[in-house]
Amino acid sequence: VKPVDMVLTGGRVVNEDGIVDASIAVDGGRIVAIGDERLMPPARERIALDGLHVLPGAIDVHVHFREPGMPQKEDWATGSAAAAVGGVTTVFDMPNTIPPTDSVENFQLKLGAAKSKSIVDFGLYGLLGEHNLGDLEALAEAGVIGYKLFLGNTTGDLPCPSDGAVLEGFEILAGLGLRCSIHAENSPILFWRQNKLKAAGRDDVLAHLAARTDVVAVEALNRAATLADWTGARIHIVHESCARSLPFIRFWKERGVDMTVETLPQYLYLSAEMMLNPGGEVLRMNPPIREAAHQEPLWAALADGTIDMIATDHAPHAIEEKYGPRIWDLACGFPGVETSMALMLTAVADGRLSLERVATITSGAPARAFGLYGRKGAIRIGADADLAVVDLNRSATLSAAALHSRGKVSAYEGKEVKGVPVMTFVRGRMVAKDGEVVAEKGWGELVRPNMAPPAPRNLNTTMKAILEPGQRPWG
Ligand code: DOR
Ligand code: ZN
Repeated sequence: VKPVDMVLTGGRVVNEDGIVDASIAVDGGRIVAIGDERLMPPARERIALDGLHVLPGAIDVHVHFREPGMPQKEDWATGSAAAAVGGVTTVFDMPNTIPPTDSVENFQLKLGAAKSKSIVDFGLYGLLGEHNLGDLEALAEAGVIGYKLFLGNTTGDLPCPSDGAVLEGFEILAGLGLRCSIHAENSPILFWRQNKLKAAGRDDVLAHLAARTDVVAVEALNRAATLADWTGARIHIVHESCARSLPFIRFWKERGVDMTVETLPQYLYLSAEMMLNPGGEVLRMNPPIREAAHQEPLWAALADGTIDMIATDHAPHAIEEKYGPRIWDLACGFPGVETSMALMLTAVADGRLSLERVATITSGAPARAFGLYGRKGAIRIGADADLAVVDLNRSATLSAAALHSRGKVSAYEGKEVKGVPVMTFVRGRMVAKDGEVVAEKGWGELVRPNMAPPAPRNLNTTMKAILEPGQRPWG
């Protein structure tokens, strides 16, 4: 028999539907057998896992790797190194780079950088902006994983499109069938409040949350869902931070809106109260980290499926941009792709989540939402051998100094985690081991979505339809 590339023996294989003791055979980047060690084919390389758990590699649908345009904050080499060390095998990069990913030309520019440097697989978002509605279809053909709509202002200051442009954008995306990830904050409200707070001399750490209080998120979520309901556009709510959004998410899902939702470890573990500690201003981000009372409902929603998945909003900045006396002067966001898996495994150790649920929220759910399932998102024959080997018994202390990201800022300085990624494989190649990168840059490949057929609604009311001469609204 011809030997396969690799067999991982003696691991405990974790999927969404259960955990089995099994060996995994890998050939040509795919999983070719799963089962008893004695049934595995001969292999060029054997790695003994000795009871370590193997999860499907995490898919982080929300990172900012900053290239092109802001290499002082991060680039594809440092960002993907952080991902690999953290058990993340696929990342989706956001379009608020310089230039923004709003045209095929700018998509190709980012693709070139990612291909030459990334050690993990990657999807690239296209921007949904008011100025580039005419580019959305060409971006789909070029291979975007989906789109990003900034309803709320954040790093990059990409303007929020008017509601008219958002509706037309959703009409176009509904026809394409690709998912639109949405930063759901109401821009006019947050700017209004921010300007008044500034005028009144409020520049303390909590002023940022005061400007972006709960209704800023709740209103934008419901506006986006209303337009998705009307058009049949598929949407994904990024960085859900607010317990008061949860009943609305349940309502829209039940109504049949094709909506998925992510939250972030920082909304589960961190609170606005912590911002009052020395250096607490480092937690400034958008949407803001809210009062501690939001944490328990968000954990419960992540466990019960109201929230579908965990992402990180990995948002590195230079250290000097993150600290200072006036909250309004500080950069928003901080790194996370490297620590998310350990924080979710810690939630398993704490009895908050099952290990199978971690496989869902880190891999199965993102793969399904963005049309990658089957190829990724599960450990099964025929799938890419994207694997995160973790040691549930190993503890570690998180610290900024240990990060591979260029943004050497940790929101979790000194936090103890229990359960850490120890080996990461992307399409059968080991890319990280024991916290260190072991792959040559450039191994990562673009992933393209394979979505269910589009399901547009109210087609007779779309801009395309009403611009037809002689069109009648009753269609
Ligand atoms: O705090 C944030 N930082 N929130 C975002 O939505 C974007 C991110 C960034 O790009 O820095
Ligand atoms: Zn973001």
